[in-house]
Amino acid sequence: MNNFNFCSPTYFAFGRGAEARVGELCVKYGAHRVLVVYGGGSVVRSGLLARVLADMEAKGLAHVELAGIRPNPTDDRVYEGIDICRSQGVDFILAVGGGSVIDTAKGIAAGAVYDGDFWDFYSGKAVPAAALPVGVVLTIPASGSEGSGNTVITKRDGLHKISIRTEEVLRPRFSIMNPELTFTLPPFQTACGIADMMAHIMERYFSNTEGVEVTDRLCEATLQTIIHQAGVVMTSPTDYDARANIMWCGMIAHNGTCGVGREEDWASHAIEHEVSAVYDVTHGAGLAVIFPAWLTWMSSHNPHKVVQFAERVFGVSPMETPEATALAGVARLKAFLKSIGLPVTFGELGVDDPDIDLLVSKLVENKGESLGNYVRLTPQDCREIYELCRG
Ligand code: NZQ
Ligand code: ZN
Repeated sequence: MNNFNFCSPTYFAFGRGAEARVGELCVKYGAHRVLVVYGGGSVVRSGLLARVLADMEAKGLAHVELAGIRPNPTDDRVYEGIDICRSQGVDFILAVGGGSVIDTAKGIAAGAVYDGDFWDFYSGKAVPAAALPVGVVLTIPASGSEGSGNTVITKRDGLHKISIRTEEVLRPRFSIMNPELTFTLPPFQTACGIADMMAHIMERYFSNTEGVEVTDRLCEATLQTIIHQAGVVMTSPTDYDARANIMWCGMIAHNGTCGVGREEDWASHAIEHEVSAVYDVTHGAGLAVIFPAWLTWMSSHNPHKVVQFAERVFGVSPMETPEATALAGVARLKAFLKSIGLPVTFGELGVDDPDIDLLVSKLVENKGESLGNYVRLTPQDCREIYELCRG
């Protein structure tokens, strides 16, 4: 096991009615004037936004709003939010929604207290040293942004979708997680969230670092829980306990716990981010296509951990070769993803004629000539993985 530092200071308020604490928690974490960020309308239709604003008003908090954040959020909305924070004296940002809303809130939080261009953080020119505090009311378990120090924004000019990770600065001060708020999720969004949280675990699980059994077993147990509970939420979307288990798994998947003590991979996310940047597909659906292709490629290049995954997560019996066992695990994963309505090929994703040259060149532009750690991938390897996605 490698040495590690782990700091996860977010306060979680989990359960039925937890959003009733939003005003109290904003006050506790120093808010006076709050920028409330939300998406395209689900929180308006559900009545959640009205409840949140009423509670904040009751606690004496002033607020301004930034509405209409779209999935795969873009830099223009971050600039807009930074302007609002500066001109209105905002001292706290509340994200009411999913990863796209939370990541926009984090981008604004870092940019509002920085003299330069906030994109410097995403382009690697600067590291956020400070940020306005961010609180979250989560409506979709998927990105894990409610417990992570990460944010992913797309620069519209050139379609650069870039993820950054901070150890502490961009972790939310609090996250309110009421599983009932996820009852209204369409089945496709539920399934995409499930694929994303599984991918967050797998990016950490596929590692060559030895001696991390506790982290491995935590990953395997969480993956098995997600797979089991996914079957329940897809057939019974208002099953509270199943929604609750999925929601907490999404947080565990990405707050860092599943990666401690070892080298992580993250090639599949980088490979997918080019697909969602260019074709504006839902991130989780993109991962449902990319991750099995990455695993298929790994089955012949470095099968040992894929074998463990196949045997321990999907109960595959050892076959004649490690590669065969690994591929049987990949087949089980694909069958699971299809069973919850997800695509596993470019065609099923709605990308009938993928421009693989473009995807590879953007990957090189954004990530350089090599990627990942489980096997360090060259641009040619990434091309082969994109080709496998044709099915
Ligand atoms: O915009 P509204 O109307 O709210 O609708 C949203 C949106 O269309 C809808 N939705 C959310 N909660 C709902 C609901 N509909 C009905 N009922 C509810 N309770 O769901 C749609 C998707 O929302 P979005 O926020 O985009 O989903 P998600 O949480 O999956 O976030 C995706 C973004 O997060 C990034 C992705 O790349 C993508 O841009 N990621 C962020 C990460 C991080 N910060 O750590 C890590 C991830 O790997 C990921 O890359
Ligand atoms: Zn993800």
